[in-house]
Amino acid sequence: MITAKMEKAFNEQINKELYSAYLYLSMQAYFERLNLTGFVNWMSVQVQEENAHAMGMYNYVNERGGKVELLAIDKPQTDWESPLDVFRHVLEHEEYVTSRINALMDVADEEKDRAALSFLDWYLKEQVEEESNVGGVLAKLELIGDDKHALLLLDKDLATRTFVAPVIG
Ligand code: FEO
Repeated sequence: MITAKMEKAFNEQINKELYSAYLYLSMQAYFERLNLTGFVNWMSVQVQEENAHAMGMYNYVNERGGKVELLAIDKPQTDWESPLDVFRHVLEHEEYVTSRINALMDVADEEKDRAALSFLDWYLKEQVEEESNVGGVLAKLELIGDDKHALLLLDKDLATRTFVAPVIG
């Protein structure tokens, strides 16, 4: 069984993961407008990953006999100044998500829910990877500056990212 407090915290995090997918879909649409198809691809993989993160928690709550309650998803930002501006936002957002996973683990600690802690370990590792991936693209964009040719080369590179369904938990 899952405690009411733990269930509420998981439902809130499912919402954050779905919001992340929504935010990245909005960023994907921004890149569509710029015709940067590699960035579009990178974001579409990111959207799929976030949906997978949400579904991992959805399945876990069900498995523990809890009730999944879907909350309203906020409207995401729709415009950015540049690809660099987008990736600064992505990193900031991922750091926020990491802080929410840590908070969720704090609840699991308080509730003495070892199974939840063990399950959430995967998410913690995933956040380290996410921040590192995003930080890598951000560093390249900072180097690129106003060099359009270099931006197109990065776009080509980001076109190779593929979605691999994660095995969560
Ligand atoms: Fe699901 Fe990017 O954190």
